Amino acid sequence: MDIFDKCVVNPGPLGKFAKDAEGYFMFPKLEGEISNKMMFQGKERLVWSLNNYLGLANHPEVRKADAEAAAQWGLAYPMGARMMSGHTKYHEQLENELAAFVKREAAYLLNYGYQGMVSIIAALVGRNDVIVYDSEAHACIIDGMRLAFGKRFVYPHNDIENAEKQLQRATKIVEKTGGGILFITEGVYGMSGDLGKLDEIVALKEKYKFRLLIDDAHGFGTMGPTGAGTDEHFGVQNKVDLYFGTFAKSMAGIGGFIAGKKEVIKYLQYNMRSQIFAKSLPMPMVIGALKRLQMLREEPEHREKLWTIVNALQSQLREAGFDLGNTNSPVTPVILHGGEMEAAGVTYDLREKYDIFCSIVIYPVVPKGVILLRLIPTAMHTLEDVDYTVKAFKEIQHKLDTDAYKDIELDKLFN
Ligand SMILES: Cc1ncc(COP(=O)(O)O)c(C=O)c1O
Repeated sequence: MDIFDKCVVNPGPLGKFAKDAEGYFMFPKLEGEISNKMMFQGKERLVWSLNNYLGLANHPEVRKADAEAAAQWGLAYPMGARMMSGHTKYHEQLENELAAFVKREAAYLLNYGYQGMVSIIAALVGRNDVIVYDSEAHACIIDGMRLAFGKRFVYPHNDIENAEKQLQRATKIVEKTGGGILFITEGVYGMSGDLGKLDEIVALKEKYKFRLLIDDAHGFGTMGPTGAGTDEHFGVQNKVDLYFGTFAKSMAGIGGFIAGKKEVIKYLQYNMRSQIFAKSLPMPMVIGALKRLQMLREEPEHREKLWTIVNALQSQLREAGFDLGNTNSPVTPVILHGGEMEAAGVTYDLREKYDIFCSIVIYPVVPKGVILLRLIPTAMHTLEDVDYTVKAFKEIQHKLDTDAYKDIELDKLFN
């Protein structure tokens, strides 16, 4: 058999949709300035699918900082991995400022949050150790666990009673092996918008010995009184041992960081393979991140604007009878019911008739018969955008209720 045969015969769980969906449902091209409205296939659309929570992506001050840093340093500097030749005082400054912001002793930068998370887990968890984790863990956590040698126990999403059972199993094992336990949860779950139950999880520390790592990709910059994250929201920063954040969302950049006790961060600095053997973040990303962090700290108005939009969108959708699940964060899932064809019809209708661009999730990511439309409100949106969208969603719901999307051919639907 040719190793490449599978590329045609079995292109993978997502790849199998490429023929029909590519360019429209998958790999769509959003063009123009990053904002509440962008161009898609030559037409302006109201966009609800970017994690530009605080609206910093194209903020003039951010653009200026990025451009000046690019002009001064270019994209090459510093050359090499941090450990060998890719280290600068600005990387260090950013780490110190991040650590202070999330109230930890130390922080270390990561090239891409994803790769960072993979290596954090792989570096920390040896063959005698055990991981306890949530069933909705992000792919980067799953991949990290695949590389880690220790055993792992999963609990159903946010089922803390079950998590305790897994901790009991884990404890029995480490008592024999002499290893430790790493508990991993997310701060904000990116699909459903509900929060990891950090208060209940840290309470388990009184009964069990474990260390807690949170992936707060969606919570950094959006949650907590100062935007320092979901653990700040719960008032448990001193009980979360390792705090992971990414620059890909609120910070509208690339990269991420891990923060915690000095000796743990030092260990990670010397043991995360994806960081030791990869080029460090280029200077414009670092200088740009310093600027974004300063704005995050000193300009709460971006977060306040975000929450004005979040509250308006979520309360109006709920008032209109929509099921938003258990979201407690800006992530706004709208749970509808229908088959695959209806899901395509809804998305197409939203885009072509209402010029609304949002992400759609169907089986197998959510149960069969569920259509999950995921809206990401940002500080760039307006209250008019919210009114317009809720009105469109009501019309869509009515069409679903009256079977308007059943047995339709998409290309004929709106002609
Ligand atoms: C929960 C979560 N963790 C980690 C990541 C990966 O971060 P990055 O985009 O910085 O690689 C993402 C997606 O961006 C995410 O949603």
